[in-house]
Formats: sequence, C-alpha cells, structure tokens
Amino acid sequence: MRSLFLVALLIGACGKGDQPPPPSSGSPNARPETGPRPAADPNAAAGSQLSEAQQMFATVCATCHGADGTGNGPAAESLTPKPRNYTDPEWQKSVTDDDIKKIILEGGPAVGKSPMMPAQVQLKDKPEVLNELVAIIRGFAKK
Ligand code: HEC
Repeated sequence: MRSLFLVALLIGACGKGDQPPPPSSGSPNARPETGPRPAADPNAAAGSQLSEAQQMFATVCATCHGADGTGNGPAAESLTPKPRNYTDPEWQKSVTDDDIKKIILEGGPAVGKSPMMPAQVQLKDKPEVLNELVAIIRGFAKK
C-alpha cells in the first residue's frame, strides 16, 4: 500500500514538473512587437508639414505684415507707409482677389503703392501658391 502511494506521488510530481515550459514559450513573442514602431515617423512628419504658401507667409510676408496679419511684423516699424491691417473688414471689402494677386506678383509700385512691398515674380509659375497666399490674407478677416 505504501509503495503505491509513493508511486502516485512521484507521478504527480512529474506531471507538475512538465508544466512550467509552456508559459515561458509565450514570452519571446512580446519582443518582436516593438520592432515595427519606426514606421510611424514618416506619417508624423507629413502631418506637420506646412504648404509652400504657409511657409512663405511665415518667413517672408510676416516680417512686415505680421504673423497675425495686422501689419505689426518686426520690419514694419521702419516702414512708411506701414502695411495695412488685414483683419480690417473695410479693406477686405475694398480689394478683389485679383488686386491682391497683382501686388504680390508685381510689387507695390506696379499698383501705385509703396516700393517696400516686394514683387514675388517667381510666383507667376506657381498659381496654386499665389491662390493660397490670397486665401491666407482673406483668412485674417474678422468675422
Ligand atoms: C519688406 C516688407 C514687406 C514684405 C516682406 C511684404 N510686404 Fe506686402 N506690403 C508692404 C507694405 C509697406 C505695403 C503697403 C503698401 C502701401 O500701402 O503703399 C504692403 C502691401 C501689401 C498688399 C496690399 C495691401 C493693400 O494696401 O491693399 C498685399 C496684398 C501684400 N502686401 C501682400 C504681401 C505678401 C503676400 C507678402 C509675402 C509674399 C508680402 N506682402 C511681403 C510691405 C511688405
């Protein structure tokens, strides 16, 4: 009777001893999942990219016209006459999109205004950038 009991215990012990391996085979799977992460970077960069017109307004036009379009850019202080306030609804009503395009392309003197307003002749070949600049300027209007 006693020996049978011992055998039963041994079998039971062996059975338990076989069990630990299966759980450990699952852990190696966790590592490869962290691998593909870098693929997300190109998407993030594309989402934060500014259009050519937005970049141009921020780096060129805003130095005089101000990032908020009110004509308070760092270079505006020394200008006479000063760039106008794009948020003024009266001015927005007084000009057509073509008026705005003409002064951007040909500069202030071409429309009888200040020579401090520089011509952007290179935009002749980029109507989509010119159109977006007009949209940016229109976007400053107070609603
Ligand atoms: C060096 C300063 C300067 C820069 C840079 C500049 N402007 Fe101007 N801009 C002026 C001044 C000054 C006037 C006002 C001219 C006047 O009233 O005689 C003006 C006038 C204008 C007007 C006409 C507003 C009106 O009176 O009807 C538009 C539109 C305009 N700018 C757009 C732009 C855009 C778009 C850019 C960037 C591509 C730009 N400007 C860059 C100085 C600048």
